[in-house]
Amino acid sequence: MQNAALRACHIPETEYVKNPMPREKMNEMLAALHAENCLGANVTVPHKQTILPHLDEVTDLAREIGAVNTILKRTDADGHGKLIGDNTDAYGLVRALRERDVELNEMRVVILGAGGAAAAAAYALAGEGASEIVLLNRTLARSVELADRLHEKFPNLSLAINDWDVLKRAHLIINATSVGMSPRTGESPLPENVVLAQDAVVFDLVYNPPATKFLRQAEARGARGLGGLDMLIYQGARAFELWTGERAPIEVMRAAATDALQDLMHAQTREANP
Ligand code: ATR
Repeated sequence: MQNAALRACHIPETEYVKNPMPREKMNEMLAALHAENCLGANVTVPHKQTILPHLDEVTDLAREIGAVNTILKRTDADGHGKLIGDNTDAYGLVRALRERDVELNEMRVVILGAGGAAAAAAYALAGEGASEIVLLNRTLARSVELADRLHEKFPNLSLAINDWDVLKRAHLIINATSVGMSPRTGESPLPENVVLAQDAVVFDLVYNPPATKFLRQAEARGARGLGGLDMLIYQGARAFELWTGERAPIEVMRAAATDALQDLMHAQTREANP
């Protein structure tokens, strides 16, 4: 997706590469980002939270969310290069919902999960005027910790934790856990007998597979299901714009991401049925 965008914008001799980052190599890999010809980086699981203290600066949004998914480079007044941690997941989610005409103001939202992705979703939606956010997470202490942070930033927001009964009254339900992600596609974060409002929108941050059990389960109960690929594309598009200063070619990125996901799914099917 990023390489297709780089080519479409005629940015020469630049390539987006995937680098595994063992925890003990974090500082070494961050030092390598200072190279003049490097535009920046993305950070993903499991480093989105632990990387914060290793960066020179962190944007207010990323600090509030407590997770970094994008690293930008800036030069200070003395000419020193700095690595800045930012978060484009919140932007990606809001744009994905907006483009599908999902109303966000005054919404009663349920977020499944309480990790970095859930925090990005919660800050994004509270910032868009959600009136109530309910956090449902396996580990209660993490929901409590996130709810406390949210309350500090949004004192008027109605917050609850682990009230599963609210699912039947929720306007928007977001899966921000990793449950249902390939290869464990038979799992859903919702209970089997869940009752949902007829006009509920459910959004799965998981994009592989595109039709998760969570989405199928919710759609079977009359809800409108939206998969996570759009959010992936929009968070990437925002990062691309921050790195390059160019307008992201969204349709090029969407086509490349869709193709890559198809290839990945074919490879997974071949692996499962050799
Ligand atoms: P991310 O940055 O992607 O949010 P994370 O911080 O590791 O990653 O959070 C993963 C989320 O998925 C957490 O809410 C986690 O629940 P816990 O806080 O209880 O660990 C949730 N999760 C992962 N596997 C799960 C499972 N099998 N059942 C329920 N929740 C699960």
